[in-house]
Amino acid sequence: MSTAKPPDESVQGRPVGWQDARTRWNRRYREIRENTKNDPASETPDDLLTGVDHCLVYLSQVGLLPTTGEALDIAGGSGADALYLASIGLKTTLVDISAVGLEIAADAASQRSLSLRTIELDTETQPLPSGPWDLIHISHYLHRPTITAAASLLKPGGVLVVAVATLTNLERHSRPSARFLVKNNELKALVGGLHVEFYVEAWQSNDANEAWMLARRPRQGPSWQSRAIG
Ligand SMILES: C[S@@+](CC[C@H](N)C(=O)[O-])C[C@H]1O[C@@H](n2cnc3c(N)ncnc32)[C@H](O)[C@@H]1O
Repeated sequence: MSTAKPPDESVQGRPVGWQDARTRWNRRYREIRENTKNDPASETPDDLLTGVDHCLVYLSQVGLLPTTGEALDIAGGSGADALYLASIGLKTTLVDISAVGLEIAADAASQRSLSLRTIELDTETQPLPSGPWDLIHISHYLHRPTITAAASLLKPGGVLVVAVATLTNLERHSRPSARFLVKNNELKALVGGLHVEFYVEAWQSNDANEAWMLARRPRQGPSWQSRAIG
């Protein structure tokens, strides 16, 4: 068995963890792309909504999401959520560690005549795009410093939406493992300075126990120190 890595997996000079996540997720998105090619249903117009974060759809339906301005989807993978945000009127940027995921997202955006900016980025070692943003969304990806950094990049009045599984999820599912799960009310503590307007922890229709949060930066508040560049 060969242990050689494909040329595009070269990650010299990067932390070991970065290589692991990038390789793993690129492989997964390649598999998804291959499977999708053979699935005629994936070409229907409704495909855009398949797999969209339920929290995002719910918050949109109850009128809590902005429909103008600039949105950032962090670790958004192959772009279902970013395309949803673009489809409701937001000028959307998608960041993810997986170049393959971002390619799928860019192709899907172009097929649907939606505008989408994509940036390959490791949120654990690189700064987030500085914005500032009207909406930042993070779902099913847990890196606590990234959530706190995202909170600092909102425009006054902007909202941070986070949806992530809780430790309670282990009662029904062994994965994700505990290190990818939040404790009760933990999300709220990560975004001090924002006003939490919506928060639930519950078993959702996907049979996952998730924390859903929408937190808003006050229109007038503390001055933020951003870790972002540019
Ligand atoms: C479980 S998927 C969630 C995708 C999407 N947010 C969703 O809810 O369907 C986790 C995503 O995080 C991305 N990811 C993992 N580590 C990352 C990192 N260090 N920086 C940026 N993205 C990362 C993966 O490429 C993958 O797209």
